[in-house]
Amino acid sequence: MTADRIGVGMLGYAFMGKAHSRALLALRHLDVPLRPELVSISGRDARAVEEARARWGWAEATTDWREQVADERIGLFVNGGPNAVHAEPTIAAARAGKHVLCEKPLGMSAAESHEMWQAAERAGVRHLCGFNYRFVPAVRLARELLEAGELGEVVHFRARYLQSWGWDADASLWRFDPAQAGTGALGDLGTHVVGLARYLVGEIVSVSARVRTIVPDRAVDDHVVATIEFENGLLGTVEASRLARGRINSNAFEVNGSKGSLAFDVERLNELEVADTKSFRRVLVTEPEHPFMRHWWPPGHILGWGDTFTHQLAHLLEAIAGEHDVAPHGATFEDGYRCDEVVEAMLRSAESGRSEAVASR
Ligand SMILES: NC(=O)c1ccc[n+]([C@@H]2O[C@H](COP(=O)([O-])OP(=O)(O)OC[C@H]3O[C@@H](n4cnc5c(N)ncnc54)[C@H](O)[C@@H]3O)[C@@H](O)[C@H]2O)c1
Repeated sequence: MTADRIGVGMLGYAFMGKAHSRALLALRHLDVPLRPELVSISGRDARAVEEARARWGWAEATTDWREQVADERIGLFVNGGPNAVHAEPTIAAARAGKHVLCEKPLGMSAAESHEMWQAAERAGVRHLCGFNYRFVPAVRLARELLEAGELGEVVHFRARYLQSWGWDADASLWRFDPAQAGTGALGDLGTHVVGLARYLVGEIVSVSARVRTIVPDRAVDDHVVATIEFENGLLGTVEASRLARGRINSNAFEVNGSKGSLAFDVERLNELEVADTKSFRRVLVTEPEHPFMRHWWPPGHILGWGDTFTHQLAHLLEAIAGEHDVAPHGATFEDGYRCDEVVEAMLRSAESGRSEAVASR
């Protein structure tokens, strides 16, 4: 790493490999304090990883992430592998002094996530867990409005993350294998909404949840419904499913306060619905003063889902350059860990049939 450059190594070349590679390429041309150099990409299949290297302009391809961890040219390690491949390479990279970005859910368990958080802290590196929805302009605006007290006293939070691909999916996907994924819809989608609940409202102290596997022979959950209680006593609801026909990628929340309400759905990514004492109106979040718009286009020239990865990586590069911390707007490994404690409390609650406190170690 030199003053104005940072070498990046990435694990994974499929869905998240594409999202992060595309974001890194864009950041080579945007206004960020460190210019990312795409040093190497890793994955298990030599031919496929070479194809990804050539497509996205990575300098080198490797089938062994250990080479990336040992590579002095790499200052930032991005882990876009399946959940079971998060902890070992990320901890090794942090111990080797590399800043780390790891996809969500952070670990396979709260204990593993805690270990990752502690390892990154001990190594003194910047760490970010890939809760990219914090980097949707409308979501950041929602947080700013809440912080400014625009909603008055917040009384309700409800969120749901619904997809539909789970009905017809290939049963051999790693996402359906508990050894590679941990949980199903809960860890995959539920963590995103738990992450947003914590970002927008605050810490969750107890949960009451039901978790169901609906598709025959499936080894992970398809559906979770939970009530959550925040530390300030406020109640919320959370639902996640991969079996909601018609909902393709609907990550949506609503917050109600004494003076107004906010509502968002990622399927309408550029819009925040805002209500005062009357009904909702639509705010198109593309004005120059809106979050992240300094990187982009004139008002009304809307952004896409992939741009959230650009904003997230820009935020991390700024943190590495010392401009600000990763928290509170970026999710740190602590946030990844605390989400996993909420997930485990939901699993305990589904088992016991009772409300369960969220643990903290
Ligand atoms: N932030 C988001 O919105 C978002 C969206 C999708 C997925 N994710 C997360 O990103 C991670 C990856 O998901 P995905 O959808 O990209 O999965 P994917 O199946 O599309 O890609 C997984 C990648 O990991 C590689 N891989 C698998 N096993 C490996 C191993 N043992 N060693 C090295 N590489 C290995 C595969 O070759 C592939 O390149 C998951 O943790 C998932 O939860 C986050």
